[in-house]
Amino acid sequence: MKPTTAPKTYRVKSFGCQMNVYDGERMAEMLGERGIVPAPEGEEADLVVLNTCHIREKAAEKVYSDIGRLQKADGTKPLIAVAGCVAQAEGEEIMARAPAVSMVVGPQAYHRLPEMLDKAVRGERATDTDMPAIAKFAALPERRRTNPASFLTVQEGCDKFCTYCVVPYTRGAEISRPYADLVTEAKKLVDAGAKEITLLGQNVSAWSGEDAKGHRVGLAGLIRDLAKVDGLARIRYTTSHPADMDDDLIAAHGEIDKLMPFLHLPVQAGSDRVLKAMNRSHTAESYLKLLERFRAARTDLALSGDFIVGFPGEAEAEFEETLALVDEVAYAQAFSFKYSPRPGTPAATMDGQVSKEVMDERLQRLQAALNRDQLAFNQGTVGRTCEVLVERKGKHPGQWLGKTPWLQSAWFEGDVGIGDLVAVELLEAGPNSLAARLRQPALSAA
Ligand code: SAH
Ligand code: SF4
Ligand code: F3S
Repeated sequence: MKPTTAPKTYRVKSFGCQMNVYDGERMAEMLGERGIVPAPEGEEADLVVLNTCHIREKAAEKVYSDIGRLQKADGTKPLIAVAGCVAQAEGEEIMARAPAVSMVVGPQAYHRLPEMLDKAVRGERATDTDMPAIAKFAALPERRRTNPASFLTVQEGCDKFCTYCVVPYTRGAEISRPYADLVTEAKKLVDAGAKEITLLGQNVSAWSGEDAKGHRVGLAGLIRDLAKVDGLARIRYTTSHPADMDDDLIAAHGEIDKLMPFLHLPVQAGSDRVLKAMNRSHTAESYLKLLERFRAARTDLALSGDFIVGFPGEAEAEFEETLALVDEVAYAQAFSFKYSPRPGTPAATMDGQVSKEVMDERLQRLQAALNRDQLAFNQGTVGRTCEVLVERKGKHPGQWLGKTPWLQSAWFEGDVGIGDLVAVELLEAGPNSLAARLRQPALSAA
């Protein structure tokens, strides 16, 4: 590669899960420390970071088409860094397949992006997919800028090894960030304008640490202490695994007002045979029992889940068990996917791979059921007055989007600002959002 001038502007494009969004923000902050500024809307950036996702085939293939689109005939602009889970899984392949890429950096190594950038400017290509446990967080700059609803990674990695999933390979083993670091970062986020913090982890409920008094605490203990941070109004967490949900976390939902009444708890399938083949540690029944306990602690809890249709060997009758589970739970929202074979995972070579047609048909039926329940949930909240956090402007002048405690999008008009917490009355429900009316002026200014 030819040496080039140091970049003045950057663009970070994050794909995949919320943790990638968090990582993308932190990479942007590092570049900001170096005096590199975000490229103005509509203008090309000198440096583009593609923060990639490897979870399904389509997501991973996107990287190569994005690189193709960025490439210039003279080979000078822009500098391209590939970060995230595809970088971790396919670093060498990217370097070989895409000469326009000068940096490949994995999710546990991105604190070294600035050094790699120096090399890239000198014309050297660099790859870093090391997995030093937790080193990255200490090396990142302090939080200074954030959204009213912001993310905070508390736990990373996965030891569960579901047979379809790449995450244990791309994010590494489960680690918990230290309690004190998290309290400090949460306070910085609040100082920077955060009103709501979503605690993130691939298995966030597996978080554990030592509190200020040296006591061993789980996620509920951390939430209890974060709830004491002045200026922080709302706490959420995602994603949980049914295996790690303890009594304390269930109780926390009944006791901590700032903990929002929402639980994303993926089940994946309704058939016990399929769940076993997936290496999920729960059965349909143990999952339902767990939800019952959460609902008993917090009666208005909104539930969310993830589903995979067409896992290898899934029979029609087994898929119908997924539909039956959905009917029983009545989710407020959910994500559903066609099974995608991932290289290196056990399920990719299992017998009984399901055809695309069958997967398409099953996904349609599942999504029809999930959409029906989502609309019904939204309709069930019509007439309620609740607090929303104003996150952005709408299309029409004076129109705003706020999020309800149950994570619904509510549209309303009025004299408010981004970051305000205001009371609205929910008037009319659609499948994906509600129309609302402002009930009172801002409770707290942004
Ligand atoms: N740690 C979280 C999130 C994992 S990825 C969890 O355990 O739930 C988010 C979702 O992507 C998963 O819950 C699963 O539904 C889906 N997913 C993961 N691997 C997949 C694959 N190979 N094909 C299709 N969907 C997949
Ligand atoms: Fe993947 Fe399973 Fe771990 Fe979730 S729990 S990240 S689905 S291996
Ligand atoms: Fe994708 Fe990696 Fe997240 S594979 S879903 S970006 S952990």
